[in-house]
Amino acid sequence: MPEADVSKKEKQYYADVPQKTEGFFLKGAGNLDWGMKNRLSHIFNPRTGRTVMLAIDHGYFQGPTTGLERIDLNIVPLIPYADALMLTRGILRSVVPPSITKPIVMRCSGGPSILKELSNEELAVDIEDAIRMNVAAITLQVFIGGEYETRSIHNMTKLVDMGMRYGIPTMAVTAVGKDMVRDVKYFRLACRICAELGAQFVKTYYVPEDFDTVTASCPVPIVMAGGKKLPELDALTMAYNAVQEGAAGVDMGRNIFQSDAPQAMMQAVIKVVHENMRPKDALGLYETLKKKKKK
Ligand code: 5RP
Repeated sequence: MPEADVSKKEKQYYADVPQKTEGFFLKGAGNLDWGMKNRLSHIFNPRTGRTVMLAIDHGYFQGPTTGLERIDLNIVPLIPYADALMLTRGILRSVVPPSITKPIVMRCSGGPSILKELSNEELAVDIEDAIRMNVAAITLQVFIGGEYETRSIHNMTKLVDMGMRYGIPTMAVTAVGKDMVRDVKYFRLACRICAELGAQFVKTYYVPEDFDTVTASCPVPIVMAGGKKLPELDALTMAYNAVQEGAAGVDMGRNIFQSDAPQAMMQAVIKVVHENMRPKDALGLYETLKKKKKK
């Protein structure tokens, strides 16, 4: 990746020194307004400072994704386990019971389908509608390096401005288009740009090399995206490594709802994220819960 910052001096991330946030449990959120802090406290558990979000918004650009064909049957039973739900307003209103008390992270961007250039997105929800749905946060993709990079960044700054007016935090998702490199340099760049331009938290992918420099150089919390379906142990290991290396939790989709036992997987991920359970133990828990469910 080309780099404008060509200083010969080695960068120092001080990954072992946590960033101080006076008066609040969440990184970078100390100076936010009460409403915003309160919404963030619904998403992130104030006891652990972490979250396990369930992402089910894939249909907004790729239609009925495997595992999401019937959200009423496949996903609604998972809701009690999640700390927060990331989804579109269409699914929220048509399928999700309004009696749930879980915080909603509302997908607010859209436009192109998988048949077109994905970075060509627009904002797709009015802030008034987000308020009407009582959301805890609003979210969109940011395509750093993508064909419509500037548009997607401006979408984000507009969403942040709208959210600021009403105390609703914005989660920026660092999108990786088909041809984009997924290395640590890229994620450091993308996450930092999102935070600098106002996102209150950022969702990004895990990279095995130096992920702690991605979290250390981003002044707001990072939640790890799950990505493609992996074997359960690999997915649990990735979640474990991400939180040990500074992520404030996960926002996982396919690795949960495409698992053979989504409820068991959800509970195993929760143990990893909130209780630092080791991946092998979490896999054991997953297998036990999976067997129980079959009986
Ligand atoms: C789309 C998204 C999705 O919500 C999310 O990242 C997909 O989740 P997963 O990769 O875990 O299936 O933000 O880019």
